[in-house]
Amino acid sequence: MPVWKSRFKDRDVTDRSVWMNRRTLMAGTAGLLAGAPALASRHAIPNPGYSTDEPPTRFEDITSYNNFYEFGTGKDDPARYASALTTDPWSIEIAGECANPGTHALEDILKGKTIEERIYRFRCVEAWSMVIPWFGFQLSALLDQVVPTSKARYVAFETLYRPEEMIGQRSRTIPWPYVEGLRMDEAMHPLTLMATGIYEEKMPNQNGAPIRLVVPWKYGFKSIKSIVKITLTEEQPPATWNILQPDEYGFYANVNPEVDHPRWSQASHRVVGSGLFARREPTLMLNGYADEVGPLYAGMDLRKNF
Ligand code: MTE
Repeated sequence: MPVWKSRFKDRDVTDRSVWMNRRTLMAGTAGLLAGAPALASRHAIPNPGYSTDEPPTRFEDITSYNNFYEFGTGKDDPARYASALTTDPWSIEIAGECANPGTHALEDILKGKTIEERIYRFRCVEAWSMVIPWFGFQLSALLDQVVPTSKARYVAFETLYRPEEMIGQRSRTIPWPYVEGLRMDEAMHPLTLMATGIYEEKMPNQNGAPIRLVVPWKYGFKSIKSIVKITLTEEQPPATWNILQPDEYGFYANVNPEVDHPRWSQASHRVVGSGLFARREPTLMLNGYADEVGPLYAGMDLRKNF
């Protein structure tokens, strides 16, 4: 697994004792969360095999610098407005090319799933990065349950449309609902996570509560938030940024330092939370996961399929 060399200074990262305190606090309040045990921290098993050893970004930075256009286009809009979103009850409709389509309550989806904690580097196309301790379960566990047919070649995702609570949806900044897609083998890859929390806390609303996708080798825009529908399809599904600006945002969205965005370089990125004189680091091919997921793209021209 990728082991990035740690170049972080102490002040860049959450103090370990703060993190440990948060864990202890969560363990102490686990009883209060009895109604939603699968969301509680005590069920998150750390998975070092799928984690980077880089120190994580501070919780406060992860939750205050977000892209979530449903709450506005500013990076601080989601933290300001996302508390209006009701995330309980929540259900996900699963449709399309599978033997068991249907709509399921989130609690039922979480039942029987192994909830793991994985620390992934999260890299945005606008050239910034964070290291985030996510918890969640492998998307493949859910897809296996619905039994895809032989025609299922892609997986399409859709975000909630609820303008009463999502203030950004009252303007036509982008077409609603936000949609994304993965190829089946990408969706089934063990690195692909359905995340339900950060730092062992329930997913903060601004980060895509109550459940969002995390695909660590792709740019952040692939990681669709607040998912209400998953459809297995034969054809490549639409993806919001790809529809809006196809020259700038490809369907694949693989982190690739060799393919520049038309308006900026992708060769390096700014480390969020690294202080006033933000540090830049060189960007790694497939975000450092080339050994694991490189074979998925064997024989493909990654300049064409960007
Ligand atoms: N999902 C929805 N529904 N709406 C969005 O605007 N923005 C994407 C992605 N998922 C977005 C979304 C983009 S551009 C990024 S970089 C990541 O969410 C940001 O995730 P974060 O705020 O948890 O860091």
